[in-house]
Formats: sequence, C-alpha cells, structure tokens
Amino acid sequence: MSQREYKFVIAASGASGAIYGRELLRAIASSVPGESSLIVSAAALRVYNQELKGTLRTPEEYLDANLNGIASDKRVHSFRILDHADIGAKAASGSTPSDGMIICPCSMKTLAGIAHGYTSNLIERAADVCLKERRRLVVVPRETPYSLIHLRNMTQLTEAGGIVLPGSPGFYQNPRTLDDLGRFIAGRILSLFDIHHSLYEGWEGED
Ligand SMILES: Cc1cc2nc3c(=O)[nH]c(=O)nc-3n(C[C@H](O)[C@H](O)[C@H](O)COP(=O)(O)O)c2cc1C
Repeated sequence: MSQREYKFVIAASGASGAIYGRELLRAIASSVPGESSLIVSAAALRVYNQELKGTLRTPEEYLDANLNGIASDKRVHSFRILDHADIGAKAASGSTPSDGMIICPCSMKTLAGIAHGYTSNLIERAADVCLKERRRLVVVPRETPYSLIHLRNMTQLTEAGGIVLPGSPGFYQNPRTLDDLGRFIAGRILSLFDIHHSLYEGWEGED
C-alpha cells in the first residue's frame, strides 16, 4: 500500500470502458490512502448501464456500484461526489490543491472540450485548471477508429501537458477476465502517479 495520502479529481465521462473506471475506483479505494473528488457525467451513467447491466440513475449509485464488495473497513480512500454541472465547485479553482486529475473513461466530446479550452461543465473546467496549474492530467479515451479530429485533439492535449492513456489494454500479462483488462488500465494510470501496485504482473523483457 502507498504510504502518503493522495488527493485526486477523478471523473468518468461517456466513452465505452466503464470497466476501466470501475477498476480504477476499486484500486484507489482499496490501496491508495487519501480523499478525492468524483465527477460523473450523465453519459457515463448511461454507458455504465449499457456495459455493466446496471440501472444507475445518480453518481452516488455509480460510486456504490463500483465499490460494491469492498468492505468499509478495507477502504483507505474516500470520495466526495461533485455535480457535473457545478462549475463553481472547489475543483474548478486553481487555488484548491490536488495531485492531479484522471478522466476514465474519457469521451471524445470531453477530450475535445479540454483540448480547446471550452469548459462547459465541471469535468472540462477541472481539467482546464489542471493544465494551467501544470498538474498531472491523465485522460483515458476509447474510440476506434480515430478521425483526424480525434488525433488532432489528442495531440493538442498532449502538447498542453496532458497525458493520453488510451483504453488499449496489453495482452502480454495473459488476462483471463474482463476485470483483468480493467485492472491493467487502472495499474497504468497509478504508475503515472508513481504509485506502486500489484494490479497486473509487469513484463520486464527478456535477455
Ligand atoms: C453506449 C454508448 C457508448 C459510447 N461509446 C463512446 C466511446 O467509446 N467513445 C466516445 O468518445 N463516445 C462514446 N459515446 C458517446 C458519448 O457518450 C457522447 O458523445 C456524450 O455526449 C459524451 O458526453 P460526456 O463527455 O459529457 O460524458 C457512447 C455513447 C453511448 C450511449
């Protein structure tokens, strides 16, 4: 388990890959001490229901469903839910400190908003703040194939200091379940924040 406390802004938007968001929240809840804000778009709820056979209506239900089965005394991280439309929340201000932001999964619509500084909701505004304050911003888009617009937006976001971590899990760790694929993406995200984890066995190469 990580020693220091972390404070993230974590968001889910409406790209396919609800399982990535789920495994990220589960990994942080059970092994990364601290407290984070959580922002969930309406489209993220819709995609979750489609992919994970849910009937979620609210971000509170989204958090509960994702952390289902992790006993409260095993949770080392707490989450405060922020309203997607509340552009006045603390996460929208550069004076609120954080270790960075993770958008998992990240729709191409949200990615476009961030890449162009068009901050029409709290996810986009908090990401904009992260970039201007030079904090780590990791986005997990999932789309295939990419249009030139997607590619340009991902380039622009990278040039502005963000990190694009595509929802493209590796297969060299011999995944057996869909959860294994989700844990791979969650692990790659945690590694970008220098957080040690055992979410998958890394491949260290051959001599
Ligand atoms: C079932 C379903 C799957 C979707 N998958 C994707 C996807 O993989 N990538 C993407 O960029 N958008 C996807 N979308 C479209 C986004 O949800 C849509 O653009 C939405 O407006 C994004 O809003 P948000 O970024 O505010 O969450 C999907 C929508 C639905 C209903």
